[in-house]
Amino acid sequence: MNIILIGPPGAGKGTQARLIEDEYKVIQLSTGDMLRAKVKTGDELGQKIKKVIDSGDLVSDDLMVEIISERIDEKDCANGFILDGFPRTVAQAEALDKMLKNKDLEINSVIEIVVDEDQIVERVSGRYTCSDCGEGYHDKFKPAKCDDECDECGAEDSFTRRADDNAISVRNRLDAFNKQTAPILPFYENQKLLNKIDGMKNIDEVAKDIKEVLDGNKLKKPENKALRNGR
Ligand code: AP5
Ligand code: MG
Repeated sequence: MNIILIGPPGAGKGTQARLIEDEYKVIQLSTGDMLRAKVKTGDELGQKIKKVIDSGDLVSDDLMVEIISERIDEKDCANGFILDGFPRTVAQAEALDKMLKNKDLEINSVIEIVVDEDQIVERVSGRYTCSDCGEGYHDKFKPAKCDDECDECGAEDSFTRRADDNAISVRNRLDAFNKQTAPILPFYENQKLLNKIDGMKNIDEVAKDIKEVLDGNKLKKPENKALRNGR
């Protein structure tokens, strides 16, 4: 099963992608995480990417499409993948469509996580992440059991906060979402792939609503196949 998660900054894409990974044994492909890993290398491209991310602007379509195309070809994606943060522009959505056709793959479901704008700043400003395993937390909504130990992997003193989680950058990221990412929604609506989920509910409730959509999707597929086979 191949899934796209779309939503503004702090909507819960990363949080839900990790839950979907566990439930459906598919791989989370977060373009934000991939870019931050590139920044960590400190090479020339990494430094350029850092400037773009920290400001809240978008990295170029060509680079993103190349990164995703290579990543999808890796063995661990064979059982399916969750695109978290990609596509983010109409050009990326069109390139993905073409790329998947060439690879004989398809998207089974697009989940849009809808969150009120005033909740976004609170979510993003309270976020912290384990730099060892990537588990995400929140000061108020999902605090770790201990201040300095990851619940998931037990790493100590591994919690970090993102440089782009400041008020100016978040405003710019939200702007980028509204102007450049929201216009891709009709593209998926026309293909009857789009499912809107209320992201204002708590993390477990959002996960339950997504599971309902994906399980419906799983049921639909064999039924369609049987129909196609004339049974
Ligand atoms: P990216 O890393 O994708 O950032 P983003 O889209 O701004 O989204 P976030 O990761 O901030 O939010 P999220 O939806 O994952 O929320 P989370 O689950 O963490 O991209 C960063 C940058 O990289 C971009 O700005 C751009 O520069 C570049 N980039 C990436 N992809 C690109 C592309 N395709 N093209 C061009 N450039 C690209 O949740 C947030 C917090 O809220 C957490 O603390 C969590 O615990 C909490 N939370 C989650 N769900 C709930 C809930 N239901 N209730 C209460 N709290 C919750
Ligand atoms: Mg994220």
